[in-house]
Amino acid sequence: MSGRKTLIVGNWKMFNNVHQSSTLLARLYQHIVPHRNVEVVVAPGFLALQPLSLEVDRRRIKLCAQDAYFKDEGAFTGEVSFSQLRSLVDYVIIGHSERRIYFGESLETIRDKVAASVRNKITPILCVGETAEERRDKETKMVLHDQVTTALSNLTAEEVSEVVIAYEPVWAISTFGGQLAKPSVIKEDIKFIRKQISDLYGEATAKKTRIIYGGSVDEHTVGGYLDIEGCDGALPGSASLNYHKFNKIIEVATKKASERK
Ligand code: PGA
Repeated sequence: MSGRKTLIVGNWKMFNNVHQSSTLLARLYQHIVPHRNVEVVVAPGFLALQPLSLEVDRRRIKLCAQDAYFKDEGAFTGEVSFSQLRSLVDYVIIGHSERRIYFGESLETIRDKVAASVRNKITPILCVGETAEERRDKETKMVLHDQVTTALSNLTAEEVSEVVIAYEPVWAISTFGGQLAKPSVIKEDIKFIRKQISDLYGEATAKKTRIIYGGSVDEHTVGGYLDIEGCDGALPGSASLNYHKFNKIIEVATKKASERK
């Protein structure tokens, strides 16, 4: 027993308007049976966060933003700060590969966003992962090392223990090809990430930090990923837009959490 709660996060990306987001949330509600060791989180677009925060019962589903800017306020046209999100969300996704690749987010920008998230008492879900080329060139460990160590470098060990790290190999994400990752392959990468935390912040911290997996996770594959030692949850994208699939994913997670009791 790790003592870490299972975390299932649905990343809705830039899909669904406010009305559609509200409908999807209501549908999820019909089926979710809360479990004390499973946290269910959804990440709708920015516009839906305010209305959904009024509809959501946080004991059943928590809200997550998909990004935010690292300055708390100022003349930054078009940006949304962590401080503006403070009472609306419990989590923020930071450094998703779509942000790194399409919007050129650097290691340092992501480090500053993680620090801003912690400063504003919002739990960061830090996404890390190598591209297909990097994996082919045997650079996976180096990439993960750089992404993890830079992103966490402004935090104390206690703060690191609260961060969630999502291992999302770019080649496995549906956006970038969606090659199915075998649990037997990625278990080494998850282990490596925890080792980085242990080396830098100590074993006690590494034991508390949750590491989840993302990359074409669906209702059929989630069980295999949750069975990986040290894998504390999943971050499905496309499958989270379909409430049947997302509910099934939650069901699998709940069943596994009950078996682990
Ligand atoms: P996917 O997305 O499940 O559609 O691959 C995961 C993600 O991008 O976080």
